[in-house]
Amino acid sequence: MILRTLKLRNFRNYENAEICLSPGLNLITGQNAQGKTNLLESLVYLSLTRSHRISDDRKLIHEGSDFADIRCEYEDDRIQSLRAVIHPKGKTLMVRGQPVRKSSEFIGLLNVVLFAPDDLRVFSDQPRERRRILNQEITKVSGKYLFALNHYQNLLKERNVLLKAQNRDLRYLDILDEQMAREECRIIQERNSFIHQIQSIMPALYRDIASDDITVTVRYKCCIEDPENVSEDILCQMHRDSREKDLENRVTSAGIHREDILFELEGKNLITLASQGQKRMTMLAFKMALLRYIQNTTGKRPVLLLDDVLSELDPIRQKKLLDMVKAPYQCIITSTDLPEYLNREEITEFTVSNGTVTPVSGGIR
Ligand SMILES: Nc1ncnc2c1ncn2[C@@H]1O[C@H](COP(=O)(O)OP(=O)(O)OP(=O)(O)O)[C@@H](O)[C@H]1O
Ligand SMILES: [Mg+2]
Repeated sequence: MILRTLKLRNFRNYENAEICLSPGLNLITGQNAQGKTNLLESLVYLSLTRSHRISDDRKLIHEGSDFADIRCEYEDDRIQSLRAVIHPKGKTLMVRGQPVRKSSEFIGLLNVVLFAPDDLRVFSDQPRERRRILNQEITKVSGKYLFALNHYQNLLKERNVLLKAQNRDLRYLDILDEQMAREECRIIQERNSFIHQIQSIMPALYRDIASDDITVTVRYKCCIEDPENVSEDILCQMHRDSREKDLENRVTSAGIHREDILFELEGKNLITLASQGQKRMTMLAFKMALLRYIQNTTGKRPVLLLDDVLSELDPIRQKKLLDMVKAPYQCIITSTDLPEYLNREEITEFTVSNGTVTPVSGGIR
């Protein structure tokens, strides 16, 4: 997949901008607070129908404007176009000019993988944040996963309401447990397969980027002991086993809403012993593995977005990273300045200043 153009109207600090991207390395330089991250954020929005930075879409609308409009054209087997118009009361999503009813018809069409310095927070964040990543990445490749997850979340809400009610109908609880187990079974299978695929390539990618012999691991902390042999019966039993506790505490204690993924360095929790640099390279290896995962599952190459991460790596590792990604993937990289070793001929360069993008080389209208 190759992104060709991105058009922004009233998005963040952009009033009107159009950028024509090249299939290889695109570098966007600019001083602080000029709109580099905003530009990448608009692409994340087209990929996930939400921002990676905020949950209130209204903040994305240019101050003083009534709506924001993000449009892109990308090439798959043919030229495709996506558009998201954000109003204060909601959003309209369009594929090839036609509005879609559900965001699930839109999510996953444009596949981007973003790496931003803030991503490192996820290592020390609450499990909820790591589950969010898990869900977000699997959703990009599986509409069925999103459907199962939404259904599960509704059932979970219903179960918790029932547990808090005065008259608790235990037969209804049985029905909810069975329905939840059905969705959980699908979700666990997908989560397990996702972690397996990531884990099969991540350690080697880490060694490549970091040039050291440390083993990084990502592990699935599943709500049942053996996710390989998951079944609806096992999951129903899990809910039955925790029922007494759930009735007492009036909340559902076991299930996929309590799961986590663990990042480890030499078999030990990464948080406790990794240096900042090691954390950064682990996250990079994870993101690189994600690129491959998406490519293997969808048959399409995602676009890599690197937000201001080069400056945080030493020059040798910066070069290594770019060498690893530049041939197979289209990349959009932001930076406050042009990295010295980058050969100007290899890149399409833009500068951004106060919401205006200008090409240094490459095309813009
Ligand atoms: N809704 C909005 N309307 C107008 N301007 C906005 C809006 N939201 C954010 N901005 C402006 O966008 C700018 C920040 O842009 P962005 O985060 O893309 O900066 P950046 O170039 O990535 O900077 P840094 O190098 O510091 O990361 C700020 O000046 C901010 O005031
Ligand atoms: Mg930024």
